[in-house]
Amino acid sequence: MSETTKIPQHVAIIMDGNGRWANNLSIPRISGHKRGVEVVRIVVKSCIEQGVKYLTLFAFSSENWSRPLNEITLLIALFTITLEQEIIKLHKNNIRFKVIGDLSKFSPKIIKLIHDGETLTAANTGLTLTIAANYGGRWDIIQATLKMLEQRPELIGHFEEKDLAQHFMMSYAPEPDLLIRTGGEQRISNFLLWNLIYTELYFTDTLWPDFKEDAFNLAIESYFKRERRFGKINAPVKLSITDMTQKISKKMG
Ligand code: IPE
Ligand code: IPE
Ligand code: MG
Repeated sequence: MSETTKIPQHVAIIMDGNGRWANNLSIPRISGHKRGVEVVRIVVKSCIEQGVKYLTLFAFSSENWSRPLNEITLLIALFTITLEQEIIKLHKNNIRFKVIGDLSKFSPKIIKLIHDGETLTAANTGLTLTIAANYGGRWDIIQATLKMLEQRPELIGHFEEKDLAQHFMMSYAPEPDLLIRTGGEQRISNFLLWNLIYTELYFTDTLWPDFKEDAFNLAIESYFKRERRFGKINAPVKLSITDMTQKISKKMG
């Protein structure tokens, strides 16, 4: 059976299109972001129902600081309110909450909310929900390298993949099986560069605020049709080496 029949263990999503969704309705961009938070709730529920174990959401990239100050301020306020309101609900639903990204740019209040949320939910055994906030794939590679060399300076000059891999922000999770990007663009936008090497990519024009259960199910169905090869060959081996050698020697008489 060449098709992928297992539910993806780890789904990562670039939640894009909030601004355009709001523009289409001639309402402020922040209304699109607010609707986007509601969609996160729906997708979390779908993941739990389908048996996905890790859901990783790109909420704010290191490049998003270049947006107008007004939008950044409102996004940060929305992030704060969402953390304040949702963490207890996540905990009640046995969800483990994690945040990846450079938190040093956030206020002490947000850093505390994140830290408290991660601590409260650390032992939960259901879905692991990771929010990427002020995250950049290149930043992750640099911080992992710095951490590795700080802990093991003798590795300067020669180190292996496994030495570095353990220091990435997402080292607690398997690599994503499926990456979904909503909003029509087909690019990675500095998301999990290290972790996505063999991830199946799924792009949809649906804007994030419209990405409901049905849209999520379509992405999962698409994943089921993929043939994951990881550089190998999946074609069935029809003849063993011994069979082949026997056939050839018969032919040669
Ligand atoms: C994604 O929606 C959310 C963030 C990047 C914070 P956008 O705000 O990028 O929406 P569009 O792409 O402008 O429609
Ligand atoms: C990617 O969306 C980042 C997030 C969804 C958080 P952007 O809207 O920032 O991406 P670009 O600028 O279109 O590549
Ligand atoms: Mg965008």
